[in-house]
Amino acid sequence: MNSPELPATDQSEQFSASATDKVGSLRGEQLSKYKFIDLFAGIGGFHLAFHKAGAECVFASEWDEDARLTYEANFKKISPKLFESNNFVGDITQVKKSTIPNFDILTGGFPCQPFSQAGFKKGFEDTRGTLFFDIAEIIKVKKPKAFFLENVRGLYSHDGGRTFQTIKETLSEDLGYSFHHAIVKASDHGLPQHRPRLFMVGFRNPDTVFEFPKKRGLKFNMSDVMNGKVDREIGYTLRVGGRTSPIDDRRNWDGYRVNGKVRRLTPREGLKMQGFPASYKFPVSDIAAMKQLGNSVAVAAIHDYAKQIIYSLDNPRG
Ligand SMILES: C[S@@+](CC[C@H](N)C(=O)[O-])C[C@H]1O[C@@H](n2cnc3c(N)ncnc32)[C@H](O)[C@@H]1O
Repeated sequence: MNSPELPATDQSEQFSASATDKVGSLRGEQLSKYKFIDLFAGIGGFHLAFHKAGAECVFASEWDEDARLTYEANFKKISPKLFESNNFVGDITQVKKSTIPNFDILTGGFPCQPFSQAGFKKGFEDTRGTLFFDIAEIIKVKKPKAFFLENVRGLYSHDGGRTFQTIKETLSEDLGYSFHHAIVKASDHGLPQHRPRLFMVGFRNPDTVFEFPKKRGLKFNMSDVMNGKVDREIGYTLRVGGRTSPIDDRRNWDGYRVNGKVRRLTPREGLKMQGFPASYKFPVSDIAAMKQLGNSVAVAAIHDYAKQIIYSLDNPRG
């Protein structure tokens, strides 16, 4: 099967400046109050971004013990009810979907898995046994107003494009949501890292007008991150594997020349590259912290989209 055409990387460019200005001037973060859930929560990049946009997290799922420690250390204070109500759960496949509290927006970056090759029928039933099936089932049972899913760029061409097509058809044709997608770079949302990721957004009311947030320039560069002269403005995309490879090795992503000397990126610097605040805590080893950062989202890009999703929910006709 042919891969689907790549979405215009720069779809956000088609987006008029006025829409973002509207978001800015209405300050959606203060006027709106929506509930969201954080699936495959990791260290809470979605939680932080949607909390900042004025929404409240009512349910989260993450099964990795180290990631759970980091999540709890950082979100217990800002979302105490999530923990008091025991709605920060582990394995999502074990959750009876009807027991999830009501919410408006589903968010999550899920592991990419191939779907069943059986038969010609695509859609919901084909996704059974995968983690995307759990997402689709939650949407089917809970009928949120919107979803925002994130994944690696490779999901787009994964399995000859079949994975993406099945996801799109399940959400739009089977579940009746609108479906918008784009490859989004963190560096187009202020952060010094390319980190191209597939963003997928949809609304239960498929006529809801949604415009991609406007791109913005870098807010700071790698010299600011590493507090010294770095020979590249935009850093390497944070990853999980390949750490401490020799600086000129193609797998290297954490070694930089700073003021002419090679040194490794620290977790605090990685946090800054991903758009987390300086106050963010890591109650785990540096090795675990770097793995968690490699898995995480670019918070500034997610926040720009969160504001735009909330704007669309408040103004479905644009
Ligand atoms: C790509 S990461 C998402 C990171 C997250 N968006 C963030 O901002 O940090 C995917 C996460 O899903 C978690 N995960 C995988 N399978 C899971 C399951 N069955 N139930 C709950 N969490 C799961 C992994 O432990 C991992 O932390």
